[in-house]
Amino acid sequence: MPEPLSAPRPNPWIAAIEAYVPGASRAEGGVPVIKLSSNENPHGASPLVAERLRAHAHDVHRYPDGSATDLRRRIGFLHGLEPDRIVCGTGSDEILQLLPLIYCGHGDTVVHVRHGFMVYPIAARRAGAVPLAAPDRAFTADVDSILATVRKDTRIVYLANPNNPTGTMIPRAEVMRLHAGLRPDILLVIDQAYAEYLPEPDPDGALALARSAANVVATRTFSKIYGLGGLRVGWATGPAPVIAELNRIRAPFPIASPGLVAAAAAIADQDWVARCREANARERARLAAAIGALGNHGLAAVPSAANFVLMTCPEEGPLAASALHAALAARGILVRWLPAQGLPHGLRISVGTEDENGRLIDALHELCAAA
Ligand SMILES: Cc1ncc(COP(=O)(O)O)c(C=O)c1O
Repeated sequence: MPEPLSAPRPNPWIAAIEAYVPGASRAEGGVPVIKLSSNENPHGASPLVAERLRAHAHDVHRYPDGSATDLRRRIGFLHGLEPDRIVCGTGSDEILQLLPLIYCGHGDTVVHVRHGFMVYPIAARRAGAVPLAAPDRAFTADVDSILATVRKDTRIVYLANPNNPTGTMIPRAEVMRLHAGLRPDILLVIDQAYAEYLPEPDPDGALALARSAANVVATRTFSKIYGLGGLRVGWATGPAPVIAELNRIRAPFPIASPGLVAAAAAIADQDWVARCREANARERARLAAAIGALGNHGLAAVPSAANFVLMTCPEEGPLAASALHAALAARGILVRWLPAQGLPHGLRISVGTEDENGRLIDALHELCAAA
């Protein structure tokens, strides 16, 4: 008989995971905070949400509808999708994390872009799969590079479009070319977390592709433009067999009842969504222009389609990304430094309110002047 272990031992592929690091939400020494580190909606959710949540406060003793029937009906109506081909999750994160558990065997591979969302490699490793990073071109997903990274044992390709943390996007034709270049047994997961920041209802065609193709899933979230990050509501649509597998293994009650109530209210207020989209486009342009004007200090803004801007910084000195990150934090302005995403010289700045962005721009001017 082998010696019993002295303590429970985690699976080695779990112990190898580098845990997700959320955006900072506190500054040192009680300095009041401007949080531009998590790509949230700085205007918050539609006012309808608070109203419906107040009314719901007396109903929290009941379990929620684990199938999110009403919410799926509303999502289907808005996007022209069959509710039966939608699954809701504890944020889109839950769904992104479940897919490798369904489709990957131990040692299989999952492809994502190098400067991509940190959840994809975590999701792959949770399933015992191996994440493979495809190099980007000019901070943008490169279809040829993704296709060249795919191997015989690849089961899933993740594409965030627009991408986090770069904010760049590939057009519909490139998404179609990527899909056409993949074997039919590879699942293409198109993460549209930031799609509502574009005016078109399906900006890269992912929803349409998830309706027609047998190997495409599109995911969306209520955490970004809908302003419900704290309530954890996301969804996916795709082929019926994929949705059936997700339903088989998802949590029985993935969304707490306040999340369901809030998401139903939020999706009903498309005027709010449109206003937030316009405010974001205006402020994002202002932020990008202000960063561009500091080009003589080595700062530059990568063109963004989302609610954040990737700012590239000089490699050394007081304006290097790590130093700037710390100097902004000391002023209570929290942005995201990105060494884990292969961008040690980059800071991701979420677009805030007009006032917040003004304070960030003032701080950048002061820090550049002092450098
Ligand atoms: C590309 C991308 N996908 C998914 C998510 C997660 O969204 P959720 O809050 O729905 O889990 C994020 C959040 O930052 C994201 O940037």
